[in-house]
Amino acid sequence: MSTLITGGTVVDETGARRADVRIEGGRITAVLDPGDVGAGAVAPGESADRAEVHDSTEVLDATGLVVCPGFVDLHTHLREPGREEAETIESGSRAAALGGYTAVVAMPNTDPTQDCVSVVEFVREQGRRAGLCDVHPSGSITVGRRGDQLTPFAELAAVGVRLFTDDGDGVQDPLLMRRAFEYSAGLGVTMAQHCEVKRLTAGAVMHEGECCSRLGLPGWPALAEELMVHRDIELVRLTGAPVHLLHLSCARSVELVRRAKADGLAVTAEATPHHISLTDETLRSYSAIYKVNPPLRTIHDVEAVRAGIADGTIDAIATDHAPHVAEAKEQPLDAAPPGMLGLETALGVALGHLDLPLAEVIATLSWKPARIAGLGEVHGRPVAVGEPANLTVLDPDERWEVVPAQLASRSRNTPFVGVALRGRVRHTILHGELTVRDSVATR
Ligand code: DOR
Repeated sequence: MSTLITGGTVVDETGARRADVRIEGGRITAVLDPGDVGAGAVAPGESADRAEVHDSTEVLDATGLVVCPGFVDLHTHLREPGREEAETIESGSRAAALGGYTAVVAMPNTDPTQDCVSVVEFVREQGRRAGLCDVHPSGSITVGRRGDQLTPFAELAAVGVRLFTDDGDGVQDPLLMRRAFEYSAGLGVTMAQHCEVKRLTAGAVMHEGECCSRLGLPGWPALAEELMVHRDIELVRLTGAPVHLLHLSCARSVELVRRAKADGLAVTAEATPHHISLTDETLRSYSAIYKVNPPLRTIHDVEAVRAGIADGTIDAIATDHAPHVAEAKEQPLDAAPPGMLGLETALGVALGHLDLPLAEVIATLSWKPARIAGLGEVHGRPVAVGEPANLTVLDPDERWEVVPAQLASRSRNTPFVGVALRGRVRHTILHGELTVRDSVATR
């Protein structure tokens, strides 16, 4: 079985061009001038349709569509093991495939925590069984994410863990974090920090600022993020180990990263679709659908985060896909857990809210995060002969709206219901196999 994608515009790190792409045995075997589907795909004089019949080639007409390397999410909560009522590795992988992702990094705040080889191997194996996207478990930085004892980085690195994080919590103790950086330096792994000084955010439900004062709700000050961003940048300066800063939300955090990069430090950063599209004003509804950690900030912050993406200060868009069951999110703001779905809407939100060339948006969704995740040999690759066929075919202009009942996620906590999205994934190809065809998952 082979696949031929005809008539599309290929967009990858090397640029954009019209080309037909042939896939066989999990790899790209031909990239041809449009219409030149010869080269083994179809006998001269035959149409592509005939090739489908005679050659067991599936032809995907990508006229008007973009063919690009598959997306890589640096920040996915798959909830399994432990909270399968909200998401499973299979349902989350399906949501990822529908969003154009061929690989996701699974966050470690599972139960039990991804802090040892057995749990990490379980998550990877469940991902393999689902076969909908490559699931790469992160490891936690500390045992049980309790913040007081480092996990066995070397053992976890030996089974392929490349990102370590206590996401959901930042590592509060600066000495322990220093040791984490020192320990990681020789292992080729990256510490990924959830930047939040907890002493400053206890009880908070939204961004601390004017809107929060008006609503009379407890606030999460930007300072709590900025302090940890600053601390970890300085620890990178001290230790030489790399850091990846998760879900940045504040203008001053972006500025700190900009300066760190100018200093040549090994700092990368991500931002979420919701932090480039929604503000703290949404909390006027008092709806916990808008409760997320870090919280939605002011329009000034949103614009600063967008500017950070535009100038490369922020390397990647990462979803922080955080499923929660309806009963949890229907609680009052103070009791409801933070988090929003993200995988199925990321492209549509990003294209609608970033005034950037399409290739730059795709870069933040694909090859840039692939490298940060240590997956750059397999994902986010140029669309070229011999490369692994991990691809997304998308319509950058399709307008669509989320239909909650049609989400693949087990949860429904998306703030984007009723919002016009622009840009939709049509097909996703994982190791040469279609995981999504015509915007529907194949399994
Ligand atoms: O909003 C969030 N939800 N932020 C996090 O850091 C964790 C996540 C979750 O696990 O629900």
